Amino acid sequence: MKTKLNNWKGAAAVIGIDWGDSGKGRLIDDLSQNADIIARFNGGSNTGHTVANKFGKFAMHITPSGIFNQKATCLIGRNVAVNLEVLMQEMDAMKKAGVSFKNLMIDEQAPLTMPWHIMRDGLREKIRKSKIGTTGNGVGPTYADYTERVGLKVIDLISNDLKEKIYNEAQIQNKFFNLKISPNDVYLKFSKYAKVVKPFLGKTIQILKHNHQKGKNILFEGAQGYFLDIDAGTYPFVTSSNPGVVGIWRSYDFHPQNLDHVIGITKAYTTRVGSGPMPTKMDEATAKQIIEKGHEVGTTTGRIRSPGWQDLVLLKYANEANHLTSLAITKLDVLSGQKKIKLGVGYKLNGKVTEYVPHNADHLGEVSPVYEDFDGWSENISHVRDFKKLPKNAKIYINAIEKFTKIPVKFISVGPKRGEVIYV
Ligand code: GDP
Ligand code: IMO
Ligand code: MG
Repeated sequence: MKTKLNNWKGAAAVIGIDWGDSGKGRLIDDLSQNADIIARFNGGSNTGHTVANKFGKFAMHITPSGIFNQKATCLIGRNVAVNLEVLMQEMDAMKKAGVSFKNLMIDEQAPLTMPWHIMRDGLREKIRKSKIGTTGNGVGPTYADYTERVGLKVIDLISNDLKEKIYNEAQIQNKFFNLKISPNDVYLKFSKYAKVVKPFLGKTIQILKHNHQKGKNILFEGAQGYFLDIDAGTYPFVTSSNPGVVGIWRSYDFHPQNLDHVIGITKAYTTRVGSGPMPTKMDEATAKQIIEKGHEVGTTTGRIRSPGWQDLVLLKYANEANHLTSLAITKLDVLSGQKKIKLGVGYKLNGKVTEYVPHNADHLGEVSPVYEDFDGWSENISHVRDFKKLPKNAKIYINAIEKFTKIPVKFISVGPKRGEVIYV
């Protein structure tokens, strides 16, 4: 498709194709100018999507990053783990910045993250031999209870027996997990939240279907990244939802073949936070420079992200699984000043070169990367808005990513703020 992404139409999905924190928040903010619906489809408050625009700078955990387009409807889907405490904080912060929530709808069927989920996340992590390094947001236990069919759902907030449901579940959780939760404290908290969110509850699938049929522009917002996917990622060092296109179906019954754009997003390099293998991990000195220049500090947890060179083996795999129509490459400005830039183009496993991606964390930890080396550039590129005006070596680098993955790069960001972007 020849259209530039700033003129996108139809149904578009933003899919992280790495280990998260690729700049999805900023891409959604940039693309949401064109959207009628922005639909968040997976994850919970483990998500930290940074948006920097005329309203200010925000870390979005639950609220879709498109909320700043006040004409669009923002949906929180059926498979999003809803943390109401975090949502309240976001609502407060954004109200102060003059952002209205009138256009928000939370699906009634979404699972609720309860205080016991957060406690269990922490307790489990403490006793794990090999720590995952979760964000501590109770996301794993929320989805665990959901699939066990014991969790509370958003619709319970407006049921007549909310008190009974909370008391019952809190007592069971206390018994099973040796917690000391006061059912009444939880009930009082959640009955307050219920009053605030009641106007925002609804049936998002119908709204989405109706708007799609009318030919409106729909932007799906994925959280995390494909290699943190519960099924496809480096288990057990993964999250508990589906950041790939499957996640869209799980939240909205919207078949991926109806997507006009599937935008795979990743940085010009890569990062990982928490445990788990990353074959293309940078040497310490380079990592230090990238962490400083790219401010590679977690949006949700404040932890340092570990940088690696871009890994095209993984990108190719994510493409095969998600049928990407374009790539968004962020933070190209951060690579300015690197004399040499590496691109991972293969793996070596037991002495043999392979493109095979082992999903088991132990196995991905065993591969060693095969690199292609590129000359860097020294110019500051933050002001560039036209691909042709990028330094020659930056163009060579981007073209190499395109050539290897066979996916057109249509979005390159060169700064964190809305509009600091090259639409190719
Ligand atoms: P997300 O979780 O995928 O939305 O990504 P995060 O917001 O967690 O992390 C991306 C970080 O990079 C944020 O601090 C952004 O403000 C910042 N960022 C995004 N795009 C760019 C860019 O093009 N250049 C620079 N320098 N920073 C960027
Ligand atoms: P966004 O949407 C980066 C990582 C955690 C941990 C693992 C499991 O901002 O890209 P969890 O709390 O989900 O049980 O943690 O997944 N993780 C993320 N890493 N970005 C995220 O979200 C992440 N969400 C979870 O660090 O390794
Ligand atoms: Mg993030």
